[in-house]
Amino acid sequence: MQNFIFQNTTKLIFGKGSIASLANAIPSTARLLLVFGGGSVRTNGVYDQVIASLSLHTTTEFWGIEPNPTVETIRKAVLVGKDCRADYVLAIGGGSVLDAVKLIACAIPSNDDAWQLVLNGKLIKNPLPFASVMTLPATGSEMNRGSVISNKATQEKFAFYAQYPQFSILDPETTFSLPKVQLANGIADTFVHVMEQYLTTPNQSLLMDRWAEGILQVLVEIAPSVLANNRDYDVMSQFMLAATMALNGFISMGVSQDWATHMIGHELTALHGIDHAQSLAIVLPGTMKVLQTQKAEKILQYGARVWGILQGDDNQRITKSIEATETFFRSLGLATRLSQLQIGDATIMEIEKRFMQRNVHFGEARTVTAQVTTAILNEVR
Ligand code: NZQ
Ligand code: ZN
Repeated sequence: MQNFIFQNTTKLIFGKGSIASLANAIPSTARLLLVFGGGSVRTNGVYDQVIASLSLHTTTEFWGIEPNPTVETIRKAVLVGKDCRADYVLAIGGGSVLDAVKLIACAIPSNDDAWQLVLNGKLIKNPLPFASVMTLPATGSEMNRGSVISNKATQEKFAFYAQYPQFSILDPETTFSLPKVQLANGIADTFVHVMEQYLTTPNQSLLMDRWAEGILQVLVEIAPSVLANNRDYDVMSQFMLAATMALNGFISMGVSQDWATHMIGHELTALHGIDHAQSLAIVLPGTMKVLQTQKAEKILQYGARVWGILQGDDNQRITKSIEATETFFRSLGLATRLSQLQIGDATIMEIEKRFMQRNVHFGEARTVTAQVTTAILNEVR
């Protein structure tokens, strides 16, 4: 097992009616900037609950953070925040709103442009405290330091690391209004987060393996119910907690991590605007195929423990395990081939060019170079 330091400072406030606890969770003297997406929270009652709970607080609103939040929109929010001298930022929405808030909280007290903060974390000084009311189980952003920001002008999408949210409110009832495609996205994103931390080399931590497999098994078990009826409180509670636990550091203690699939997926989103989870559902089966020798032992363990694949020789079981993964994504209604989204050679060549320029070496063994990326994308054309 590798050495590690673990500290996650986010307080989770979970359950029905928990938006009402905003009133006490945020200091009464705070000058609050409330940040929203495109309006889903107006139609599902979340906005009303937030405003009722914060009736005694001083608030300013910013609307219009888009999916795959752009620095162009974030700059506008930063101006509003500076203008009202905000000293606390609250995200109300999905992962995109929260990721945007992570950058807004860094940029309000800064004289540097927000994109410079994404590119160079050393410039970040004294960020404002922030928190979230999370309405979409998927990213785990509610309990981690990650944030992924897009730049429309340059068609780039990069991750950076902020502080942890001070707290996150997770009320499963807020997810009742999610459209099917976002349910599918959330399940797939959560699944791939686990895979990025799990499908590396075996025997690093017995406990991390079992916890990771536990989350994967829960996702496989609940996926049909989530898609069939996302107004079932119990099912959505299971889903929401699984999404948080998949990317809050609890399954990555002392183990190596991959993340190549995410890095490649971010390029597909940057170039074509496709949903984050949709990009992953296409790339992951390709990563597994191309790296099946390097990852053989772990794929066999995954196949046996998550899918019950026990028959056949090693190669047959590896193939079946990769097929089971792809079939699962398809069962969610997601595409698993680039051609289904009319993405072809030009994109593959552009990503190879970018990765050559950046001299990338992704993955737990640093084996995913520009050329390997091309092989991965060719597998899933
Ligand atoms: O904008 P509104 O109107 O709120 O609608 C959103 C948006 O259109 C809608 N939505 C959210 N909650 C809803 C709802 N609709 C009805 N009912 C609700 N309760 O869903 C749409 C998508 O929302 P978005 O926030 O973009 O989705 P998600 O949470 O999947 O976030 C995706 C972003 O997170 C990044 C991705 O790259 C992408 O930019 N990620 C962040 C990570 C992190 N911070 O740790 C890790 C992930 O790997 C990921 O990269
Ligand atoms: Zn993700």
